[in-house]
Amino acid sequence: MSQLNLILFGPPGAGKGTQGKRLCEDLRLPYIATGDMLREAVANQTDLGKEAETYMDQGDLVPDDVIIGVITERLQEDDAQDGFILDGFPRTIPQADALHEQLQRLGREITAALLVDAPEEEVIKRISGRRQCEEAGHVYNIHFDPPKRDEVCDQDGSPLKQRSDDKPEKVKRRLEVYEEQTSPLIEYYDERGLLRRFDGARSPTEVYDHIRATLATLRLEDQL
Ligand code: AP5
Repeated sequence: MSQLNLILFGPPGAGKGTQGKRLCEDLRLPYIATGDMLREAVANQTDLGKEAETYMDQGDLVPDDVIIGVITERLQEDDAQDGFILDGFPRTIPQADALHEQLQRLGREITAALLVDAPEEEVIKRISGRRQCEEAGHVYNIHFDPPKRDEVCDQDGSPLKQRSDDKPEKVKRRLEVYEEQTSPLIEYYDERGLLRRFDGARSPTEVYDHIRATLATLRLEDQL
């Protein structure tokens, strides 16, 4: 297999970011997370950030044309030419179509769409416990993976805070948006033979081992 072009998708809090960061370190591929890119743009109050902020604060998706433009540019950068791990994009059918068309123009294709799924009860608990450091975005969970000192990042000592869209009323809206706009991608990628499912309710290491085993199988199949 010449390159791994991977998509991670699934409900909020299912563990996409947790798995994506591990995959990025192990596979040495760029980890491209639209949520992180948008939060950075909001923090820096760029034009993109100002446009995205209201949607994100409501738990809604930013418009397709905006995010498609961001990803189209990002995938043209040098580091994405040998593969990538996309987390949080595509999130709608028009986004999936746009990605497919862009890759097709470049003679590339998606290797697999990795669905990390977990029950609603579990993701609500995880999201309520998530804390991120202000400095570098290191992620903790007060229920499952607490920092050594309350509200302080183990890695860089910066304060930990809760994401503004992790408040309960916003989480409810994000879950609705996932069901309405993103879950149709399950059928979309299944029909194309690209869907691989993972039980995100298991421990992070178990989920990761399953993903790695699946990727190894895909690579073997490619050599047949
Ligand atoms: P985004 O940042 O992508 O948020 P999300 O999809 O809602 O996903 P999360 O970051 O909440 O969860 P995750 O699955 O990554 O879980 P994590 O690994 O952190 O998007 C935010 C917003 O940006 C959107 O609402 C939208 O407005 C906008 N946006 C982004 N992309 C867009 C697009 N393409 N189009 C339009 N708008 C877009 O884990 C969660 C917690 O659980 C952590 O604390 C972690 O430590 C813990 N945890 C993880 N795995 C486990 C496990 N197995 N067991 C126990 N705990 C675990």
